Amino acid sequence: TYERLWIVGAMVLIVGFIATITYGSVGLGITMIDDEEETLAPDEIGEDERFADPRVEQVGEDEYAAYVVAQTFVFQPDPIEIPADSEVTFYVTSRDVIHSFTVVGTNTNTMVIPGEVATMTVEFDEPGEYGVICNEYCGAGHHDMEGELTVV
Ligand code: CUA
Repeated sequence: TYERLWIVGAMVLIVGFIATITYGSVGLGITMIDDEEETLAPDEIGEDERFADPRVEQVGEDEYAAYVVAQTFVFQPDPIEIPADSEVTFYVTSRDVIHSFTVVGTNTNTMVIPGEVATMTVEFDEPGEYGVICNEYCGAGHHDMEGELTVV
């Protein structure tokens, strides 16, 4: 009957959606686990030892912390190097205006606001190279604000 066809059609659509979502996060070897925000006065960034030297630091077995600073028109560190099969918590802040920290082709994407630390935990399973871009207009060099994230 037609009714049965509709039900089958709807199921195919639902399975398709789930497959698309799963591919988007897991298929690329990146899984978003958590994200939140912390407040930091802009004049504290220079004194905050986490951001004085932007870097990736090992904090446990297969666990890393990445301290990333966005400022017109660069991300530091660049490239951001992360070992495969690891869990990384990004702490991202801005030294000047609003930027974003967007890892192209993944769901790792956050606004980066001066005075705030955006925190995100992401799992990296497979080696790969990703572009990092800014998708908040931040000035004349906005379109050239690019970095690189390498999973090795
Ligand atoms: Cu930074 Cu746009």
